Amino acid sequence: MTTDAPQQTAHRPSEHQPSAFVPGGPDGTTSGSGSPSASGSPSGKDAAPGGEGSSAYGESLADIYDSLYPATGPEVDSMIAFLQELRPAPASLLELGVGTGRLAIPLAEHGYRVHGVDASPAMLAKLHENDSTGGVTTSVGDFSELAVEERYDLVLTALNTFFMLPTQEQQINCLRGIHDALADDGVAVFETYNPQVYHRLTEATTRVGHLAPDALLLDTIQVNRSLQSVLVVHTIMGPRGLRKVPEVSRYAWPAEFDAMARLAGLRVTGRWSDWDRGPVTDQAEKHVYVVERQTV
Ligand SMILES: C[S@@+](CC[C@H](N)C(=O)[O-])C[C@H]1O[C@@H](n2cnc3c(N)ncnc32)[C@H](O)[C@@H]1O
Repeated sequence: MTTDAPQQTAHRPSEHQPSAFVPGGPDGTTSGSGSPSASGSPSGKDAAPGGEGSSAYGESLADIYDSLYPATGPEVDSMIAFLQELRPAPASLLELGVGTGRLAIPLAEHGYRVHGVDASPAMLAKLHENDSTGGVTTSVGDFSELAVEERYDLVLTALNTFFMLPTQEQQINCLRGIHDALADDGVAVFETYNPQVYHRLTEATTRVGHLAPDALLLDTIQVNRSLQSVLVVHTIMGPRGLRKVPEVSRYAWPAEFDAMARLAGLRVTGRWSDWDRGPVTDQAEKHVYVVERQTV
């Protein structure tokens, strides 16, 4: 079984983890009518690597992303402390799906040499707007087809972003790219939701969130348990009308994650329920994986 946390030291007090909208914890959910669709591959045309699909999420949400996910708070501090223990600054760090720089900018401010990859030019434009000291370099690209020349001490894929790759093949390909991007003694870190959070939803579900005094976020969630896929349709209602942003994610169970990592020449060396190294339990909202290159 993989649900036990690896025996590691350096526990810090656990902190409240805010639930994430995209796709995050089930807080505030209410069951709705209907049942999860039994059809519909998660690997539709829109999600093809290198295609429009990989940038659609960022292009649609870049203007409000920072209100969904504030760039400061205990969660960000814990993440930085976690990485500092693994590979202290000024280590080089590659963030996949860097977004608006919520994590990359504070990491650069803590002395890391940060490069971010993202499929969405709009998200990267926001990042550079937010990055007043210019500490983060970026490139536009699809991280399921990662090809970087440099090798990094750390590769970070945070906030469920790995699960945004909608097929197993793309997830393995991404892990292969990470393998090649890691220095020999480099470490990759993944933050994903605990698949249980969605797998236990047997009915279509609705989640409502406050976005701004005059704006509301309504998520409808449908899980296809056989395909391990989640369709979240984010409906944003604000002064400028209504916007719908569909998002598909494909969750991998811990044992599958381990197997995919092995196929890519990597091995999982740690798994926790949060940045404070809490043990993995069924109730945990997320998983934090630490992965290294396999040594022969
Ligand atoms: C949930 S956001 C996370 C952003 C940032 N890492 C954070 O923690 O706030 C996911 C990001 O991944 C990007 N993304 C999704 N699929 C991608 C892909 N296949 N290749 C590159 N970027 C991708 C999106 O554009 C978006 O900026």
